[in-house]
Amino acid sequence: MTTAAAAVHDPQLPGGASAVAASARRVTKAYGAGETRVTALDAVDVDIQRGRFTAIMGPSGSGKSTLMHCLAGLDTVSGGRIWIGDTEITGLKDKQLTRLRRDKIGFIFQAFNLLPTLTALENITLPMDIAGRRPDQAWLDQVVETVGLAGRLKHRPAQLSGGQQQRVAVARALAARPEIIFGDEPTGNLDSRAGAEVLTFLRRSVDELGQTIVMVTHDPVAAGYADRVLFLADGVIVDEMHAPTADSVLERMRRFDGKRTS
Ligand SMILES: Nc1ncnc2c1ncn2[C@@H]1O[C@H](COP(=O)(O)OP(=O)(O)OP(=O)(O)O)[C@@H](O)[C@H]1O
Ligand SMILES: [Mg+2]
Repeated sequence: MTTAAAAVHDPQLPGGASAVAASARRVTKAYGAGETRVTALDAVDVDIQRGRFTAIMGPSGSGKSTLMHCLAGLDTVSGGRIWIGDTEITGLKDKQLTRLRRDKIGFIFQAFNLLPTLTALENITLPMDIAGRRPDQAWLDQVVETVGLAGRLKHRPAQLSGGQQQRVAVARALAARPEIIFGDEPTGNLDSRAGAEVLTFLRRSVDELGQTIVMVTHDPVAAGYADRVLFLADGVIVDEMHAPTADSVLERMRRFDGKRTS
């Protein structure tokens, strides 16, 4: 299918399906007006490849969360256009946008946002229960297996470690087979061991389940799990790196710091 986003950028798979899970074209986001106006995003162009793990990095205030929120339809843009898959989301009415978010997008936040009175399994299927959709049992089994929660499904969040709770949140995001999953510092509240656990599961969900993931992070180690890192500075994508390692990301970030102080 030809889409507006693909027509602009034209990254097509051989089968004709779009290789792009999300696109931004000239996306600008400003907060406030007059002297207090802040340009959080300044004409950003980006394509998020399907079936890949993309990390977004950059100094505090560089626009990482804003970019993620705009791509995910959680926030409106001041200018420019955004597509999720074949659907342009800029200009959608609230109701259509809510439905698209529910059906096509998964979220993992820094605070795991699990309901304390529900079991792990009930938390995982909650979004589908609310949407009135029956989970695909075979898929659900595969997700639970991939995130390594099979023995923990009847536990409540308080009976799980931080890493396990975040894995429940990852499974919840994966369960509905979203087109794309967005995470804002999904390992930000975890110690390094639990963080590594969650990042390993995110990586596996890309490699084994074909999931598309976009993750905002401050942590070069976390970014090292990704296929590609986008570097933001002052609302602009200033660099990107493919097949990153924690060391190569750290080295790149040092160069940012050097520029800032010189
Ligand atoms: N609701 C808002 N109102 C006004 N300004 C905002 C708002 N949200 C973000 N900003 C500003 O937009 C810019 C980008 O913010 P954003 O939250 O995207 O940064 P970030 O890269 O995610 O930073 P951090 O690493 O600290 O989370 C900052 O200058 C911030 O102060
Ligand atoms: Mg942020």
